[in-house]
Formats: sequence, C-alpha cells, structure tokens
Amino acid sequence: MKRKILLAIVAFLIIAQFFRIDKTNPPVIAANDILNHVQAPEDIQSMMKAACYDCHSNETKYPWYMDIAPFSWWTKNHVNNGRGSLNFSEWVSYSEKKKKHKLEESALKVRKKWMPLTSYLLAHPEAKISEEEREKLAKWFESMM
Ligand code: HEC
Repeated sequence: MKRKILLAIVAFLIIAQFFRIDKTNPPVIAANDILNHVQAPEDIQSMMKAACYDCHSNETKYPWYMDIAPFSWWTKNHVNNGRGSLNFSEWVSYSEKKKKHKLEESALKVRKKWMPLTSYLLAHPEAKISEEEREKLAKWFESMM
C-alpha cells in the first residue's frame, strides 16, 4: 500500500513537470516604473527590487527551484495576484487616487510585516529586510502620498 502511494506521488510529480508555467514577463517600459518616475534613492530602489519586484513588477525573476511543479504553479499564482493588485512597473498609468491608496497600503503592509510574504522570504533570504529598513521603506511610501 505504502509503495503504491509513493509511486503515485512520484508519477504525479513527473507528469506535473510537463505543465510548465509561462515565465514571459510583460514588456518593461522604464519611464512607467515608480522608481524612475519619482527618482527613488539608491537604497530604496535596491530594497524594492529585492523584496517586492518579483511579485509586483514586470521584472519577475524565477529561480530554478521555483520552476519545479507544483512550486512553480504556486509561484505563478503569487505573481499573477501580486501584479494584479499592484504593479510598480505600470505606476504611471495609475490615477492619483489609486497611487495614494497603493502607497498607503504599501506602508501599512511593510510595517505590519504582511509584505513581502513569509513564504517568499523562506525561499529568498536576500529579500529579508530589517526592522530599520522596513521603517525606512514605509516612510518613503508615505513621503510620496
Ligand atoms: C511572493 C510575492 C510577493 C512579494 C515578494 C510581495 N508581495 Fe505584495 N502582494 C502579493 C500578493 C499575492 C498580493 C495580493 C493578495 C494579498 O493582498 O495578500 C499582494 C498585495 C499587496 C498589496 C495590496 C494591494 C492592494 O491594494 O490590494 C500591497 C500594497 C503590497 N502587496 C505591497 C508589497 C510591497 C511593498 C512589497 C515589498 C516590500 C511586497 N508587496 C512584496 C505578493 C507579494
């Protein structure tokens, strides 16, 4: 019985690999990106790129281990939902009201440690931001409202 279950899991994992995710990013137009639009300081830029841009921009990078199903499906889902709710690459297309709302939400989510997602931090240690950095990032979001 145990052997059958194990074989079924292995078969599932093998078949799952045929269901690839689409890793093509939408085109990046530098002028539309928040970081270019408002000329963010260097340290804010690197924090955002490391901690937010994989899910909230058109510059998603997929490490090899995130290309393995079923993790890849889960990753792609985060990217779709993340981009759908907030896309820093398309900042310029947002209305003033929407910008303000997203900045407010961003400051809140960073302070409360809701963003970046904990599961993401487990797979991306380079995206960890210290308490001090969180505060700095949150203040920067607020400074633009
Ligand atoms: C692993 C992917 C991932 C990363 C990295 C990530 N987010 Fe998110 N984010 C999501 C997803 C998925 C949602 C939508 C679902 C939700 O609200 O939980 C979201 C929602 C949001 C929202 C809510 C937008 C709205 O108005 O509905 C804000 C604001 C936000 N993220 C900011 C950030 C910031 C700032 C960072 C970087 C410090 C960040 N996120 C990093 C995946 C991510």
